[in-house]
Amino acid sequence: MKIVSIVGARPQFIKAAALSRVLRDRHEDILIHTGQHYDAQLSDVFFAELDLPPPDYHLGVGSDSHARQTARMLEGIESVLLDELPDCVLVYGDTNSTLAGALATAKLGLPLAHVEAGLRSYDRTMPEELNRVLTDHCADVLLCPSALAVSNLAREGIRGGVHLVGDVMYDSLLRQVQDGWLEGGQLAQWGLSPQSYVIATVHRAANTDDASRLASIVQALGLLPEPVIFPVHPRTRKAMLDAGLAPSANVRLLEPLGYRDMLLLESNARCVLTDSGGVQKEAFFFGVPCVTLRDETEWPETVDCGWNVLAGCDVERIAAAADRPLPEGERPLLFGDGHAAEKIVEVLESDDPSHS
Ligand code: UD1
Ligand code: UDP
Repeated sequence: MKIVSIVGARPQFIKAAALSRVLRDRHEDILIHTGQHYDAQLSDVFFAELDLPPPDYHLGVGSDSHARQTARMLEGIESVLLDELPDCVLVYGDTNSTLAGALATAKLGLPLAHVEAGLRSYDRTMPEELNRVLTDHCADVLLCPSALAVSNLAREGIRGGVHLVGDVMYDSLLRQVQDGWLEGGQLAQWGLSPQSYVIATVHRAANTDDASRLASIVQALGLLPEPVIFPVHPRTRKAMLDAGLAPSANVRLLEPLGYRDMLLLESNARCVLTDSGGVQKEAFFFGVPCVTLRDETEWPETVDCGWNVLAGCDVERIAAAADRPLPEGERPLLFGDGHAAEKIVEVLESDDPSHS
């Protein structure tokens, strides 16, 4: 089969890498990079670290308003798909690159598969929520990371083509663990020891585009009792500069990290504070308590079992959530067994993946 994957933003390189490893042995695996993320630390570093082959097509779309960015992606993707006429197109997650890929594919009448289907935060003000819902409603094959995602789709009347496969980000993380990248010792190069610091990431539009929310988060990080390692997304760096926000001395601002350094620092942290979807889940996988700097999440299972707490941008809620004791009991297996990519390829190879 000829399978085209469409990616453009940091977490999508990680997801596509897990699939590409399985796909390229058995099928023609073609990658389109929209160019949504273009800084080396948001893009190239993941290709290098995750052994993801360079894109076959790079659309060079870059940053812009939602409409202009999505429109340029649509135009570029349509043209590649018309040349390639693949047997299936894979889109990943919930970014503008996901939605553009889904729309271009569906309008050409080509089979569309959505990796990470069925997630819902039920907050339509998030651009990602619109992207997810619209993509799911265009897709022929819906590849769900969790049982909850399957039931979310059923509530919207989507039952055909739905497959519970597990989470490809868990595949990627386990591979790094198995390859020994996270073994002890390397933390010293950061001047850190296990459990002696927390790690934070912030990049959601709701937090960066509202100066008072961002100020509150930066203040909360500054009040934590230990060093805060804060790799800063370029959007957030710009927003902090624009708002004149200078964090307290315990907050160490870094450039965005490569995947391996990020996992190393997450896995050894006492606590993770984040508004990222992927980082919430990685904290859960590592058994590190998470404080989510939002009022809702598309991963509510991690909250239900106590490993994640929603704290919004409120200074006191953030402090209390970061200070809570570890949850008791085993972490449930919520997101598959680390073989989601193999299951996805089996689904795509089956006679009629759009039926389940
Ligand atoms: C995007 C996704 C978000 C995802 C995140 C992953 C959408 C609507 N948002 O958010 O769902 O969680 O990626 O990290 O698709 N910028 C740079 N260099 C880059 C890329 C961006 O400086 O390489 C700056 C630009 O000022 C740009 C801003 O970051 O305007 C936002 O970039 P954009 O891709 O629009 O959204 P993200 O916040 O990265
Ligand atoms: N990540 C990274 N370096 C960083 C911040 C995040 O490698 O400086 C990784 C993180 O480990 C996770 C993914 O990027 O695998 C999450 O992406 P992001 O937070 O940008 O987007 P989201 O998951 O919220 O869509």
